[in-house]
Amino acid sequence: MRGIILAGGTGTRLYPLTRLINKHLLPVGKYPMIVYGIDRLRQAGIKEILIVMGKQSAGLYTEFLGSGQDFGVQLTYRIQESAGGIAEALDRGRSFIMKDEKFVVLLGDNLFMDDLSTYVNKFAQQPAGTARVLLKQVQDARRYGVPVFDRARPELISRIEEKPAKPKSSYSVTGFYMYDTSVFDIISGIRPSDRGELEITDVNNVYAADGRLEYDILQHWWGDAGTFESLQEAGKKMKGILP
Ligand code: G1P
Repeated sequence: MRGIILAGGTGTRLYPLTRLINKHLLPVGKYPMIVYGIDRLRQAGIKEILIVMGKQSAGLYTEFLGSGQDFGVQLTYRIQESAGGIAEALDRGRSFIMKDEKFVVLLGDNLFMDDLSTYVNKFAQQPAGTARVLLKQVQDARRYGVPVFDRARPELISRIEEKPAKPKSSYSVTGFYMYDTSVFDIISGIRPSDRGELEITDVNNVYAADGRLEYDILQHWWGDAGTFESLQEAGKKMKGILP
């Protein structure tokens, strides 16, 4: 299985630091943030990885990560020129994935303490045309995509609400998505949201609407290091995870 790490975006909530350097290269403990995502994929046996990034700091990515050899993976890089949303960034990976292949997508600012192997292995057993996401119980679900579970079949998500004022569950849909190439047809069919972006939640809702979205619940700490507070917390939690 291959992996795509999405590391674009302007990181406005981390200004002024992100005027100097791309968000996914900011320090989390001893390493730039993106190294933790690369390591979680490697640990799950995913060693061919595409990094989709903006133009900002592109040279620093290659300078630090190189071919990926030092991190036990093989890296390919692709530039996303526009800031058109997560689903648009994912579409940049279309030609990296082979026909009918299953793959995973990780948002580069999401940090996982769990070993993701079990979840990836479960996904490998799923029928073609279905998807899988990872959930985490959180204090304030209003900041995230929030799953609504299927009453008749609780192993499925029936809908995801993006940043709802009144969340219908206490879970967040984290930035780790498992798809096959059916996702690219779905991306072609969705329209930009009110904020002008192709939303990953709209993509996942196509799977959810017809009972094709399964999930797992993370056991350990998870964070989205998009704000100063969460970046600091990530530094403390991820300490010692890597040598
Ligand atoms: C994105 C997704 C959201 C998800 C979150 C996880 O939100 O749209 O559904 O819960 O990532 O980090 P963003 O952080 O881009 O606002």
